[in-house]
Amino acid sequence: MTADPTAGIVQLTLDGRPVVVPSGSTVLDAARTLGIDVPVLCHAPDQAPVGVCRVCMVEVKGARALAAACVRGVEAGMEVQTSTDRVLRARRTVYEMLLADHPSPCLRQRTTQDCELETLATRAGVVTPRFAPPLLPRPVDDSSPIIRVELDACILCDRCIRGCSDTRNNFVIGRIGKGETTRIAFDDDAPMGRSTCVGCGECMVSCPTGALTNKRAVEAGRSADGHLQRGRVRLHRLLHPERRSRGLHRRAARSRAEPERPGAHGRAPVPSEADVLDPEREHDRGT
Ligand code: SF4
Ligand code: SF4
Ligand code: FES
Repeated sequence: MTADPTAGIVQLTLDGRPVVVPSGSTVLDAARTLGIDVPVLCHAPDQAPVGVCRVCMVEVKGARALAAACVRGVEAGMEVQTSTDRVLRARRTVYEMLLADHPSPCLRQRTTQDCELETLATRAGVVTPRFAPPLLPRPVDDSSPIIRVELDACILCDRCIRGCSDTRNNFVIGRIGKGETTRIAFDDDAPMGRSTCVGCGECMVSCPTGALTNKRAVEAGRSADGHLQRGRVRLHRLLHPERRSRGLHRRAARSRAEPERPGAHGRAPVPSEADVLDPEREHDRGT
């Protein structure tokens, strides 16, 4: 019997260009294979896609609704358009809705000019949203010695939650509330500085906006370069070993309770003390 040469691959077209990708790929994977730039916000490298922000919407021929490219799986013969008028209009509306609920410029934008939402919105020509801001301001949590939490800037993309739980296995952050009152919270809604946070900084480097920022980098007015941020966080962990050991105990307990539970991309190794002392030893994933 001859093996089917097309097994395990899918052929489709994006913007009229044919592409072949492994089955199980997403439309976003296919777009990136062709070098087509589809904007993303809730999607992050090394994190499982969740499809909550909708800025990656694309048009699939024959489908009634626009599809989120980061979670839409490819299908044989699929015809996808990534930048039709309908797609660009829908994305602009999403930017407007997110910006209406986000101070602009946010702390990150003011400090390092790299708020991902504001960058994408500006690129799409959205500056002032048509929608009214929320009636209820969200609180600032300044209780952590290293991370400033400004929930007004949070767009509920869940990248911090996945970073904390799936990447670091710390399980400190979750969502709380309902509808307009939905927000992220630490443990059972404790201030971050009094939660079981171990100060690894994963949530901060995962955050696309000024909702979670490095206090010292902001205060120093310096670049929020990843190495600088992570190095400072490691220093904090050395200065506060009780936080680190609390996190290690929790992770060890979870490992015993659910040894086979993989994160989105496998269980991240718990860094050794040597990793903490030498930042170059620890794998740098980037964001
Ligand atoms: S600093 Fe680390 S442990 Fe603390 S909330 Fe962020 S990801 Fe979780
Ligand atoms: S704090 Fe940042 S990473 Fe977390 S949900 Fe809000 S915007 Fe996303
Ligand atoms: S990046 Fe696809 S839904 Fe957010």
